[in-house]
Amino acid sequence: MKLLNGQQPLVGLVGWRGMVGSVLMDRMQAEGDFALIEPLFFSTSNAGGKAPAQAKSETVLKDAFDVDALKKCDIVITAQGGDYTSEVFPKLRAAGWNGHWIDAASTLRMKDDAVIILDPVNLPVIRSALGRGGRNWIGGNCTVSCMLMGVGALYKAGLVEWMTSMTYQAASGGGAQHMRELLTQFGTLNAEVRPLLDDPKSAILEIDRKVLSRQQSLSADETANFGVPLGGSLIPWIDKDLGLDKQPGEAGWGTSREEWKAGAETNKILGQGPGFGTAATPVDGFCVRVGAMRCHSQALTFKLTKDVPLTDIEHLIASDNEWVKVVPNNKEATIRELTPVAVTGTLGIPVGRIRQLAMGPQYLGAFTIGDQLLWGAAEPLRRMLRILLEA
Ligand code: HSE
Repeated sequence: MKLLNGQQPLVGLVGWRGMVGSVLMDRMQAEGDFALIEPLFFSTSNAGGKAPAQAKSETVLKDAFDVDALKKCDIVITAQGGDYTSEVFPKLRAAGWNGHWIDAASTLRMKDDAVIILDPVNLPVIRSALGRGGRNWIGGNCTVSCMLMGVGALYKAGLVEWMTSMTYQAASGGGAQHMRELLTQFGTLNAEVRPLLDDPKSAILEIDRKVLSRQQSLSADETANFGVPLGGSLIPWIDKDLGLDKQPGEAGWGTSREEWKAGAETNKILGQGPGFGTAATPVDGFCVRVGAMRCHSQALTFKLTKDVPLTDIEHLIASDNEWVKVVPNNKEATIRELTPVAVTGTLGIPVGRIRQLAMGPQYLGAFTIGDQLLWGAAEPLRRMLRILLEA
């Protein structure tokens, strides 16, 4: 790439200390990315402090709101969040900065000049935008990215007439404080019935009654992040309420913003739909928060465009990328390999429960899981950095 200064590209890192940022730093370290760049670490709260060990010549933290400092970067990668993007990105571009902006936040995702990056799925879309001078590279919604890493092959092969996704999303999707809140609730509930649990003769309905009573009496502080109890429960609404004033399929037809993203982002990642002058594939469903830590799981139903033998479907999925793995549709393999506990902390994307549904040969079911902090957030960002470095 053409550099603004120096020998190695100057890469500004913002939000590197947060949850997604920390996972990103670990992955960049593990893959040797820092050997290829001159990192410049920014902070929203500790400018002038000491940069982390990966710093080379720039060992002092810069102010993340200092447009002049950001302007020196060839590339800025931010995991700081949407409010930061909304405040700083327009000022930086208005100041004439022409570098590459790589962002985990959703703020810019649906802008015409932004590409949602997920290169194992949409490298041609990324390359085509790069060729046209694209500069804004935005990580996708975690659920969508994990889903497409698993079953993107079916879309690429033109086999999907429509898809529904019923999700089981982990606490981490809300943020670090949400994970803490979930675990604290689990502890509170356990403490409530501990003596009864220790007594094998105690009545289970008595335990159940006490747990429910404690769940229903959790204070505003104890539910500050999710708003209602999640420990021992679930919440079938994620992100904003888009209201009821639109047409079916549009944002605002009784959908949550997370549900709207499934259709909007899946199509944009694949380079199809209104922005590309082609038909969009309908993708819709329900997004549900469950008491998992950091893996998003989803049950998928496809209407295929034609009959395809299951073995061909499995082969297509398994050969799409190096991270996807087809899990045999039997109980033993499923409970060992297709759970958040099995997947957390890995880049693996298992796809299992693949079977023809009772509705007919063109109706396919599948279940997939991904670590929402890896493929769902950090990994596409560092891979985009690599693509730029190699361009
Ligand atoms: N919106 C996602 C969730 C987070 O709440 O699970 C990552 O995009």
